[in-house]
Amino acid sequence: MDKTSQLQKLKAEMEADQGLPLRHQATQLVFGEGNPDAQFYFLGEAPGYWEDQKGRPFVGQAGQLLDKTLEEIGLKRSDVYISNVVRFRPPGNRDPLPEELEAFAPYINREIEIIDPKIIVTLGRFSMGKFIPDQKISRIHGRVFQVEWKDKKVTVVPMYHPAAALRAGEVLKQFQEDFKKLPKILQGPQEEEKKSDDSSGGGSDNSNQPTQLSLI
Ligand code: URA
Repeated sequence: MDKTSQLQKLKAEMEADQGLPLRHQATQLVFGEGNPDAQFYFLGEAPGYWEDQKGRPFVGQAGQLLDKTLEEIGLKRSDVYISNVVRFRPPGNRDPLPEELEAFAPYINREIEIIDPKIIVTLGRFSMGKFIPDQKISRIHGRVFQVEWKDKKVTVVPMYHPAAALRAGEVLKQFQEDFKKLPKILQGPQEEEKKSDDSSGGGSDNSNQPTQLSLI
């Protein structure tokens, strides 16, 4: 089955899954969209008002900033794949609950396996936490991590959420700077792989910690 058919099947399964949380408060499922062969997979948080209305991810103000920032690095929205860790709008746009993230995770995992992107860009703390738990986005945004994930290594670049960038000028600046690194990150590590130089603590055994690659 080709990727498009696999994604269609996955979407149909989600639509039929009556056990998924939030579905009864939401207008509709907001599945991922974009190029199934994308090198960049952008993973946001959850649909907001406009996404819930239109059934498409990142089509409100945050989405417009995402589109514009992609264009600034020569990418169109249709070049990449854009998705969310939660697929029904939480009431009043509240933060997703741990059990909600857990319920959607098997579907997100399958989507990532189908797309098989070169780089996973997490937008905001909830999608960052899926790959790099117990970290602060203000500390690690824009860095490149190799993460052990489902018996393989994936490359993850945590970034601020575009909605946070809309709220604060300094965050917007960092968000744009981080995006500018993406084309170079795609070319691969420029330096030798090295362990994180992070001194934020958390014990000396970091065998389960993501490995930080070169800073660009
Ligand atoms: N914020 C998100 O995290 N996802 C969307 O789709 C829209 C806004």
